Amino acid sequence: MPAPLIHSQVTRRDGDDVWFQLTLSDLPDTQWKLHFCLARQIDPSSLQGATLERQSGSYKVMVPHSASHNIQFCCRRTPIKRNSDMPQRFFLSLPQATIGPQLLPVTLMAQDLAMDEPASHGADLPTVEAFNGIVPHPASLTLLEGNFRLAERAHVTGPVNLTGLLNHFNELTSLALTQDHDAEIQLIEAAMPPEAYRLSITPHEVRIAAATDTGWRHGLISLAQWYLQHGESLPCIELADQPRFGFRGIFLDCGRHFHSTATIKRLLKLMSLYKFNRFHWHLTDDEGWRLEINAFPELTKVGAWRGYGLPIDPQLSGGHAPYGGYYTQREVRELVAYATELGITIIPEIDIPGHCHAAIKALPELLVEAADRSRYLSVQYFDDNVLNPALPGTYRFLETVLDEVCELFPSEHIHMGGDEVPTGVWTDSPACQQLMQQEGYLDCRELQGHLLRHCQRYLATKGKRMMGWEEVLHGDKVSRDATVFAWTSFQAGLDAANAGYPVVMAPAQFLYLDLAWNHSIDEPGLYWAGTLNLEQVYACDPAPADCHACDNILGVLSPLWSELITSRDRLDYMLFPRMLATAEVAWSATAHKAWTHFAARLPGQLHILDQQQVRYRVPQR
Ligand code: ACM
Repeated sequence: MPAPLIHSQVTRRDGDDVWFQLTLSDLPDTQWKLHFCLARQIDPSSLQGATLERQSGSYKVMVPHSASHNIQFCCRRTPIKRNSDMPQRFFLSLPQATIGPQLLPVTLMAQDLAMDEPASHGADLPTVEAFNGIVPHPASLTLLEGNFRLAERAHVTGPVNLTGLLNHFNELTSLALTQDHDAEIQLIEAAMPPEAYRLSITPHEVRIAAATDTGWRHGLISLAQWYLQHGESLPCIELADQPRFGFRGIFLDCGRHFHSTATIKRLLKLMSLYKFNRFHWHLTDDEGWRLEINAFPELTKVGAWRGYGLPIDPQLSGGHAPYGGYYTQREVRELVAYATELGITIIPEIDIPGHCHAAIKALPELLVEAADRSRYLSVQYFDDNVLNPALPGTYRFLETVLDEVCELFPSEHIHMGGDEVPTGVWTDSPACQQLMQQEGYLDCRELQGHLLRHCQRYLATKGKRMMGWEEVLHGDKVSRDATVFAWTSFQAGLDAANAGYPVVMAPAQFLYLDLAWNHSIDEPGLYWAGTLNLEQVYACDPAPADCHACDNILGVLSPLWSELITSRDRLDYMLFPRMLATAEVAWSATAHKAWTHFAARLPGQLHILDQQQVRYRVPQR
């Protein structure tokens, strides 16, 4: 029997209401159901040719009307603008068996989608003459006469044991520097701010002056970049440098798609090459719980896997087969140790109270209140993904998880999420109503503050401090010790800073690297906050000069959410070279930043990325 075939197309758009048509052929004779993923909500009343049996998150199940080969439906108020939006991973289920996954050709009519978009997207870079440089750009760099020859096994001296620093340098460059006498490279101690350094390359020697290991590391990384562009004959320079912000972060969502420890290690290494010092590790979300918790094996036994017939439905790119994975505690410790060697702190995120579908499916007896009749739909279309702040089980769950998280991660900060709690939640929960009455709360959002304040206090008993997305301020309960991550807008960050909270700027409009590069229908990515080219990332100024509470702005974070990150190549494509622009936003003072200068230094950096086998998006000129 030939495999069933599906032709999927957008047939009509009316503003952001979009009509789809699925045309099916070579169907089996027996009764079947159609399953697929589409990150939109189908209006059930719009369906023709089938009945919608289920939709949860991105997962859809349709039962055809008899002998129907044509199914039509509408998704309202959510645009469809590119191929990566289209339905995917179709499969049929038969009464007795599952066939598939039938990943059938999805034809997207370009003329359907391109009609109100410009055909050409122009050049990514200005025409400027390329030269080798350092990214992020240092505070000052002067090119001098002459060259220094860097031998593969050059000797280094320093006031401390340099094994870790030299391992890092050697990993970046594939050289084999060792700490030994008769050194051509000297690390010397000098009074300066902790992250500052001076790098001087003369024909006879290299000197890196700094006050701390961190400063020497930065100097060695600049030296590594110089070597990776020039080879063994290094042009002499005098360089003085220090970062603008202490918090320079990259975020990776490992919930929506699982990324291997090898991919994470590689990302950490690439982060270190651009002087990032925080890895924000998003370990839990609706579509998967990725952290082994010894006290609750179900969290990963159940919560780390999705697929047909499992408690967690197929989602996003998922077909019928089980998909997922999780990090064992041993792997976590290894990654933490590796990151520490690179000068990077890993900040784990356990995202609560929203985005908890996987946890709730894994531990329903703890986390579900049977009498709760509240109805809600999350932004990603889950109607069962929020923890209940009035259940004893919620607190047992959280405290147990945090006990293990605090043991695993030496980071002073733990991120508790707090984002995107849907309206309507908790309104018809008897337990929540009772808690509100008991505490005198008037607004349901206070329940969110109630829960997060509990987490903040619990973390404090372990010497840890809480971070969270900007919604941790909802309900006005967490103390100003909490660091607020602004993501919906720049202004949200300024408001929190003005209110006295430490702030990390991650405004989607500038720094979300899961946004598509431009408007082309072939560019994968989200676009709810617009699209984001290299120049737009570069233009971000996290703390403008007229900001009153600039001292509260700790730095910047570039998130890569993973709804569409189905491979390492896709990860590279979305991150690079935009991550280099973020690096400069985080490190370089405004006075030392210039887009054309960055563009001129980019080819030398792409040469480095080639050596590191990074499959970046090639900028168009
Ligand atoms: C977020 O993007 N939901 C923080």
